[in-house]
Parts: sequence; structure tokens; C-alpha cells
Amino acid sequence: MTELRDIAQLGAKVLRLQAEAVTDVRSEETRLVIAALQATLANTQGVGIAAPQISESTQIIIVASRSTARYPSAPLMPATVMINPRFAPLTEHKEKGWEGCLSIPSIRALVPRYTAIKIHYLDEQGTEQTTELHDFVARVFQHEFDHLQGKVFLDSVENNQDIVAESEYFKLV
Ligand code: NI
Repeated sequence: MTELRDIAQLGAKVLRLQAEAVTDVRSEETRLVIAALQATLANTQGVGIAAPQISESTQIIIVASRSTARYPSAPLMPATVMINPRFAPLTEHKEKGWEGCLSIPSIRALVPRYTAIKIHYLDEQGTEQTTELHDFVARVFQHEFDHLQGKVFLDSVENNQDIVAESEYFKLV
């Protein structure tokens, strides 16, 4: 039985660290972090999670776009574990869209993100994967990627007026 982890909350130092690259994808340590991330995410209404959010400063994220109570109109994408992810924008165009974060409960904000990106990562077998992501899923990736750089979504907000209480957000959408 995999342990559920507490989710680090804004102010926790681990959320502000540059996460370390994974050097051994198939190690027991890496496997345990992945299992804990999967279990912890599955227990939430989130659409993604990054290892620093369970206090592991290592470059592992899960992107799991699905319709949930938190993101009712999210498209379905199988939960994908991405190790040492990186990306390049395929457009200069950024679009503002609503984001929230399990580490910053009860807050939503409009964040500008690239609408099309090319990503690279290692899968759980250590195989290099490359794919293109668009729109909402690209947004989730960029949000989780930022966690690995010690950034949270509020850092990318253009204007404080783009930050709202979740209760107000649900009246807007
Ligand atoms: Ni987050």
C-alpha cells in the first residue's frame, strides 16, 4: 500500500528549490517517489502534480488532464509520468487561462502560457519521449514544469487583479 503524502503548501521551502535531475530512473528510490505521486494525485481533484509538492526535490511530474470538480472542462489524457522534463515553445503566442494549485488552495488566477509546446522527458522505463502538447494540457505541463524550477503559478500572473478566490472563480465559469 503506497503512502499518501501531505501536499506541501505555499511557504514550504521545498516549493522554492530547483529540483534535482533524476540520474537513475529505475532505482527503488525513483519508483517510490512515482508511486507516492500517483497515489497522492489520485486522492485529489488535481490534473497534475510535481514531486516538490510531496516534498521530494526531484524532477518528476505527472500530467493527468481529466474532468474533475476542480477542472470541469478539462480534456481527458491518460496520467503520464514525466521524468527530467523539458520543453520548447512552438509559438510565441501565450494565452491567459485559469489555474489553481494543490499547494495554494482556494485561489485561482489567470496565467499566460504558451499554447503549443514540444516536450521531452524520460518515461518510467527510462525511454526518451517527445511529443507536442496544445492548449489546456500544454498549460498543465508548464505549470508542473515551473514547480521543478521553484516557481508557482502566482509568480507568472501579469496583474494582481487576475487573482481571485476560488468561490468567485466558480461564479465566473
Ligand atoms: Ni501546482
